[in-house]
Amino acid sequence: MAFRTGRLTGVSGLEHDVEQLVAWLDRTGPVAVLSGAGLSTESGIPDYRGPTGAARPATPMTYQVFTGSLQAQQRYWARSHLGWRTIARARPNAGHRSVAALAERWTGVVTQNVDGLHGAAAIGAAATGAAADVVELHGNLDRVVCLRCGELSSREALDQRLREANPHWSARVLAVRPDGDVELDDAAGFHVVTCAVCAGTLKPDVVFFGENVPAERVARCFALVEGSAGLLVLGSSLTVMSGYRFVLRAARLGLALAIVNQGPTRGDDKADLRLDAPLGAVLTGVVRATYGAAHAIP
Ligand SMILES: NC(=O)c1ccc[n+]([C@@H]2O[C@H](COP(=O)([O-])OP(=O)(O)OC[C@H]3O[C@@H](n4cnc5c(N)ncnc54)[C@H](O)[C@@H]3O)[C@@H](O)[C@H]2O)c1
Ligand SMILES: [Zn+2]
Repeated sequence: MAFRTGRLTGVSGLEHDVEQLVAWLDRTGPVAVLSGAGLSTESGIPDYRGPTGAARPATPMTYQVFTGSLQAQQRYWARSHLGWRTIARARPNAGHRSVAALAERWTGVVTQNVDGLHGAAAIGAAATGAAADVVELHGNLDRVVCLRCGELSSREALDQRLREANPHWSARVLAVRPDGDVELDDAAGFHVVTCAVCAGTLKPDVVFFGENVPAERVARCFALVEGSAGLLVLGSSLTVMSGYRFVLRAARLGLALAIVNQGPTRGDDKADLRLDAPLGAVLTGVVRATYGAAHAIP
C-alpha cells in the first residue's frame, strides 16, 4: 500500500507524486474519475472545505428551506445573482484541461461540481481527440428549472431578467461587499422573477442539499464505477454522501482507489494511493508523462 500523507514542499515531491499516479494508472488501466470542488478552486471558485478539512462558514441552502418560504428564495436568488458572476467568468484550469486531454485513461468522469468546467474543457480538447463522458451528478448552474411545470431555461436569460427586475441592486450590493456577504436586509429589496411559462417558482437545475440526485443518474454512475478497474478521486473531501457512495462501492468491489486531494478526505483509509498535492500541477505532470512535452497543458 503506497499511502502518503503530509504536505508537499519541493518540486521533487511533486515529481514523485506524478510518477506514483502514472504508475497507478498504468497498472490499473482505464479508471472512472470522481471530481469535486477542489478541482475548480484554481479557476477561482471556492470549495466548502479547505486543506484543514474544516467547513467554511457559509451554510449552503437546503431544498427544504428553499421551497419552504418566499424569503428563502429571495435570499438565495439575491446571493446567487452575485455569485453567478464568479461562475460565469470562471474558465477551465489546467486540471480540467488535463482531465479532458487524458480522456483515453478514463472510462468516464462523474463530477460533483455544478460549474460546467469539465464540459468547457472538453469542448477545447475535442479537436485533439475523443472526450470522456462527463456525468454532472448535481446538475449545472447554467440551467434553471420551474418547480411547477418543469420548464428548463438558461441561467443567462434569467440573469438578464433579474438585472431588469433589480436595476439598482448591484450598487447596493457593491457597498456591502468588503465584509464578504449580503445581509438579509439587502435581500429583502431583491425582486425574484418566476417562470416565464406558468409563473411557478424557479430553482437552479442543481441538486440542493436535502434533495436526491435523480435515480437514473445515480444508476448511470454506479454502472460506470462497476465497469471500471479503479476509481480516481480528484479534489473532494468526500464529506457529501452523494459522492462518497461511489468510493464505498469501489471499495466493496475491491477496485483500485486513488485520491488526489489537499487535506483529509473520508476515503483516505480505503485508498491504495493517496496524494496530498495541488491538482493542476499533478495532472499536467500526468499529461506530460503520457503524451510528452509537446502536448503539455499550458
Ligand atoms: N465548483 C463547484 O461546482 C462547487 C463548489 C463548491 C461546492 N460544490 C458542491 O458542494 C459539494 C462539495 O463537496 P466536495 O467534496 O466536492 O468539495 P469540498 O469543498 O468538501 O472538498 C474540496 C477538497 O478539495 C481540496 N482542494 C481545494 N483546492 C485544491 C487543489 N487545487 N488541489 C487539490 N486539492 C484541492 C480541499 O482542501 C478540500 O479537501 C459538492 O456536492 C458540490 O456539488 C460545487
Ligand atoms: Zn413553469
